[in-house]
Amino acid sequence: MADGGWWQRRRRVASWAAGLALCGAVLALLAAVLLRAYGLRSPAIPRLWPRRAAAAAAFSARERLELREALRGAVRIPTVSVSPEDLNTTALVEFGSYIREVFPAVFSSKFIQHEIVGTYSHLFTVQGSNPEMMPYMLLAHMDVVPATPEGWEVPPFSAAEREGFIYGRGTLDNKNSAIGILQALEFLLRRNYRPRRSFYVGIGHDEEVFGQKGGKKIAALLEARGVKLSFLLDEGSVILDGVVAGVKKPVALIGITEKGSITLNFTVEKEPGHSSFPPKETSIGILAAAMSRLEQNPMPNLFGYGPELMTMEHLASEFSFPLNLIMTNLWLFSPVVSRILSWKPSTNALIRTTTAVTMFNAGVKINVVPSFAKATANFRIHSAETASEVLETVRNTIADDRVKIDIVEAFDPLPISPWDDQTFGVHVFQRTILDTFPNVDSVVPGTCVGNTDSRHFTNVTNAIYRFNPVLLRSDDLPRIHGLNERISVEVYEKQVEFLFQLIKNCDIDKLPEPHSNSHEL
Ligand SMILES: *[C@@H]1O[C@H](CO)[C@@H](O)[C@H](O)[C@H]1NC(C)=O
Ligand SMILES: *[C@@H]1O[C@H](CO)[C@@H](O)[C@H](O)[C@H]1NC(C)=O
Ligand SMILES: *[C@@H]1O[C@H](CO)[C@@H](O)[C@H](O)[C@H]1NC(C)=O
Ligand SMILES: [Zn+2]
Repeated sequence: MADGGWWQRRRRVASWAAGLALCGAVLALLAAVLLRAYGLRSPAIPRLWPRRAAAAAAFSARERLELREALRGAVRIPTVSVSPEDLNTTALVEFGSYIREVFPAVFSSKFIQHEIVGTYSHLFTVQGSNPEMMPYMLLAHMDVVPATPEGWEVPPFSAAEREGFIYGRGTLDNKNSAIGILQALEFLLRRNYRPRRSFYVGIGHDEEVFGQKGGKKIAALLEARGVKLSFLLDEGSVILDGVVAGVKKPVALIGITEKGSITLNFTVEKEPGHSSFPPKETSIGILAAAMSRLEQNPMPNLFGYGPELMTMEHLASEFSFPLNLIMTNLWLFSPVVSRILSWKPSTNALIRTTTAVTMFNAGVKINVVPSFAKATANFRIHSAETASEVLETVRNTIADDRVKIDIVEAFDPLPISPWDDQTFGVHVFQRTILDTFPNVDSVVPGTCVGNTDSRHFTNVTNAIYRFNPVLLRSDDLPRIHGLNERISVEVYEKQVEFLFQLIKNCDIDKLPEPHSNSHEL
């Protein structure tokens, strides 16, 4: 259980912050001196590849029409997952027939094997011409979260096109990847491209409801076959345009881990009674106070103990003055930066285990003191903590034996995937992003705050990356799982281009020598 390590870290961070508040000005002066003395330092990986202007795939007008219609057709199939037991299996089967129809080259290729896994999921094994090269995998899912028409500008399964956007549930999460991967492969096959390096394509059918029957079974099948992957690319982070405050250019953020999760039920039981002679404390009062203590005492700020530090270091040179000085000297400024990050829910989620009280139920009648009160809270666990440490902290914070705690589900954060200039996947992503996105200079590792099917694949590779090559702005993000989910036609074309180029770029078998004129990426 808890080794106490992070309690010490918490104290250290707290005292740093207090000290800083007292002598901010002095410190700023000192910083300026130190910066001049030691110069800027950035541990980001140097860019190893030149930008190749002509490298991007050129799709014909007919192909562009075709790829757009293929996505729209897929969005119209309501592959909704409500719970592990409640999936639209008719739609899942229809999706299987649909991909056979729109990707004939994939399904007729002699070097591609197609299998159905867990009744509705798909696994494609693309046999490369060089069996010596270690295979990789592209993963996506076809199921979507429910959507009712209320609040949508167009019906959520209509795939209507408006002002350059295709609207519909699944356009960003994650039919764009499921269809995009097969589309890229289809186009490569039509150009008679035979990959040298083998790869797998997995399309899960129950990712939105934990992936136990789809993604997990695909992973188990690969593991049983002794497959080891050089890397796995799944959905997750995206290219953020204007989302990171202080950074002008779009940033490709690649998730190298995802947060863990623990869901706890809290119950307080008391003798029921009449409201005319109530006890001093009711089950409702006791439980409400306990939940309030959880909210008032957030889990510790762990900035600097997970990949968020790498994110900042890699982004450092992209920030404008004076943020760039701060970000390149996090050894000095991390207490301030970590405080600032804790102000907004979206960045706060990167630096600590979050606490969300999600359900609270008690009482049946206006004049009856209820016999019990129940609440549920979900914690998303930072990569420097474990589920059992979180449970221990929660017990200590509540500090009331009358509150019974039950674990609903729990899993630890995912391991951190390698991110260095020796890692094949990192090279491939950098190169493919440079080839495909002329405006993107920064390829940055980070934490994925949501969970993906890729977490079932830890036994087949330690190099799991969560990245959807779509350029999104702030207002696109709440549409995922929200109202009016949409993708611009241009963004989707780029995604297919990226995947097309990625498959080609994976056919290099040697890591390149560092570029002599290297420039921070
Ligand atoms: C399930 O999908 C089918 C199409 O495959 C659709 O006709 C049906 O309405 C869907 N069911 C529900 C409950 O949405
Ligand atoms: C937790 O609470 C929810 C809501 O009351 C309930 O559906 C679930 O069965 C409970 N789980 C456990 C393990 O207590
Ligand atoms: C990985 O293998 C171990 C040992 O066989 C097993 O306990 C674990 O559940 C596997 N992990 C996953 C994610 O399948
Ligand atoms: Zn989703």
